[in-house]
Amino acid sequence: MTPAAADTIRVGVIGPFSGPYANQGKNFQAGVDAWFALNGRNVGDDEIEVVYRDLPAADPARARALAQELVVSDGVQYLAGVYFTPDALAIAPLLEEADTPLVIFNAATSAITKQSPLIVRTSFTLPQTSAPMAEVARQRGLSRVVTVVSDYGPGADAEKAFSTAFEAAGGQVVEKIRMPLATNDFSPIMQRVRASGADALFAFLPSGPSTLAFARAYNDNGLKEAGVTFLAPGDLTQESDLPALGASVEGFLTTFHYSVAHDSPENKAFVDAARSAIGDPKLLTFPAVGAFDGMRVIAAMIEATGGEQDAAAAVEAVKGMSFESPRGPVTIDAETRSPTQTIYLREVAKAEDGTFFNREIQSFEKTPDLGWQN
Ligand code: PHB
Repeated sequence: MTPAAADTIRVGVIGPFSGPYANQGKNFQAGVDAWFALNGRNVGDDEIEVVYRDLPAADPARARALAQELVVSDGVQYLAGVYFTPDALAIAPLLEEADTPLVIFNAATSAITKQSPLIVRTSFTLPQTSAPMAEVARQRGLSRVVTVVSDYGPGADAEKAFSTAFEAAGGQVVEKIRMPLATNDFSPIMQRVRASGADALFAFLPSGPSTLAFARAYNDNGLKEAGVTFLAPGDLTQESDLPALGASVEGFLTTFHYSVAHDSPENKAFVDAARSAIGDPKLLTFPAVGAFDGMRVIAAMIEATGGEQDAAAAVEAVKGMSFESPRGPVTIDAETRSPTQTIYLREVAKAEDGTFFNREIQSFEKTPDLGWQN
């Protein structure tokens, strides 16, 4: 038998590689590079080649055009990446005809994977990360909360999951504030929260320049001194923002699937590889782990299909797949095609060297995508 000819299998990764969200895209790239550094580019006789396409901000029409171009002109066999929910929703209708799976490295609205059977997600969902915070808030004696979210898919998911769980546990959501995605002046909102007399604020915004501004506005408007506890999923205290936020966010509580400080051999190897890929160690943050595990899933798909283009078989092969991720144990749930994983309660803490990190202090094991039944 003659050995099969080595094929190159192209993977098209769409993400924000320039503009205000460029560091999130850089983290996609660092996760991909870390995967190759630790596992190689070859799967059997095939070699993986990644083609990157820049989508600086949420822009569904452009996302759709880029995906189409990657499939038709660049001959990619897999689509991957995608930071923002509206972009994932715009790509979903193309997948079936293109016979191409989409492996989402970030976009985190629960309903995305319902839009196509060919979508698999390796990040998290907002219901999954937000509901555990309701339990934490009640355990800490908080009873009146204002929710503040960006007014699009993941914000609506976060608001609903937190509010439902908080009220079921006997708490009261006194006000639900939604902000346009483009909001960058948060003072009026902070004043509204303060005036409400709530014990706490629960917030979601997509990680990037506005999360940094939001945490600053909480401090600048005196909410901390007024005793209004800051609660959020981990998007609000991502590691790459901590050097700028510093002591102002020390003690902030967040719930999330990944901390760069997660203590495991798998995470140590990942962090070393991803940091050397990204250059500046301070820039490493959560989209890198979604990308790393995304490449793991794509490699498993290539292996299962022997490198042939068969999107349905590729997706079928990873349903129920379990692995030890840098974040902890993960299973790609066969029905939701999203990770079932540990969600950690973390607090922003100061290390001996004076830097800040997300210290994991409580675990909610085997948390599924809690938004799926909605
Ligand atoms: C999303 O648009 O789905 C999204 C973006 C950034 C996040 C979380 C969710 O931090």
